[in-house]
Amino acid sequence: MSITKTLSKLRAHVAVAILAVLSPLLLLVALMWKLFGQLFCCCSPKSVVGEVAVVTGGGHGLGRAIALELADKGCHIAVVDINLPGAENTVKQIQEKAKVRAKAYKVDVSNYLELVELNNQVAGDLGPVTVLINNAGILLHRKSLDPEPSDVQQMIDVNLAAHFWTRMVFLPTMKAMRRGYLVTISSLAGLFAVPYNTTYSATKAGTTAHMRALRMELSLERQKDIHVCTAMPTFLEANEELATLTNQVKISSVYPLISAKAAARRIVHGMLRGEREILLPGLASFLYRLLTLLPVGWQDKAIIIISGSKLEQFCTLRK
Ligand SMILES: NC(=O)c1ccc[n+]([C@@H]2O[C@H](COP(=O)([O-])OP(=O)(O)OC[C@H]3O[C@@H](n4cnc5c(N)ncnc54)[C@H](O)[C@@H]3O)[C@@H](O)[C@H]2O)c1
Repeated sequence: MSITKTLSKLRAHVAVAILAVLSPLLLLVALMWKLFGQLFCCCSPKSVVGEVAVVTGGGHGLGRAIALELADKGCHIAVVDINLPGAENTVKQIQEKAKVRAKAYKVDVSNYLELVELNNQVAGDLGPVTVLINNAGILLHRKSLDPEPSDVQQMIDVNLAAHFWTRMVFLPTMKAMRRGYLVTISSLAGLFAVPYNTTYSATKAGTTAHMRALRMELSLERQKDIHVCTAMPTFLEANEELATLTNQVKISSVYPLISAKAAARRIVHGMLRGEREILLPGLASFLYRLLTLLPVGWQDKAIIIISGSKLEQFCTLRK
């Protein structure tokens, strides 16, 4: 091996050793930072009055709850869904409770050209989009234990690829206006990959990584007023089929289901405070940090002990 290669290997090892020595100190500073942030609430929530938000998958569940929460905060809402009656129902609920403009759009988020057209329409109807909520998602395969290739592909298209298309379509306006919010609804399954939910876990892990990389790119481009926030909830009372199944196999005894309204309130509050990642429930954040300190084999065993057999039953019930 050449001397240059040996030297660069040595440099890398020294850097890791320094980081290891400093990590207790860094950990302490991070904890104090978090504590002071909570106690003195340094980042008060910003206002979105008069801004225009696109909420994908806004025709049902969590997307609908987020659309209603943003409307409550004075934001005009483009409710986007592949299911137009669902989106129209959300618009009706917005108009009953808030004095903002809202419109329903039938769009398939996995289709880039439909998104380009959507951006033009929303800009004309409501104004330039400065808030993007990437919420639309597919939660279950038709055959959970043995999905068809086309079902796997569709989940990847909606849960992962669509986030690249929405970013390409909506981010340039935010960059030109030098402000905006990009919120992505990922899942705890993206951090704690779960058995028998391979595609879902992989798409959610991918979208979390996408947003982490994007946040760094915006920081390098000095776009400090474009906030990227990823929400990672556990099971919600949002999608009825999923909620029923989780109750049947008693996954909810591991942690109770969170209502869509409570999740939406927490996500919008966090987004307006400039939080980067929101884990729901907050306890999951500690669990994740503790778990990643363990060897990978132990991490796998811990997930299997907590949820493995329940998830297998869950998929068997759905077969
Ligand atoms: N429900 C949960 O337990 C849970 C847990 C963690 C994360 N999440 C995530 O939260 C988000 C919302 O979940 P939910 O439970 O409200 O789901 P939901 O099924 O109730 O609603 C999803 C909405 O997205 C729409 N949609 C699906 N494919 C679309 C497409 N191609 N184009 C446009 N719209 C499309 C659907 O029509 C539906 O209105 C998803 O991204 C999901 O992965 C949900």
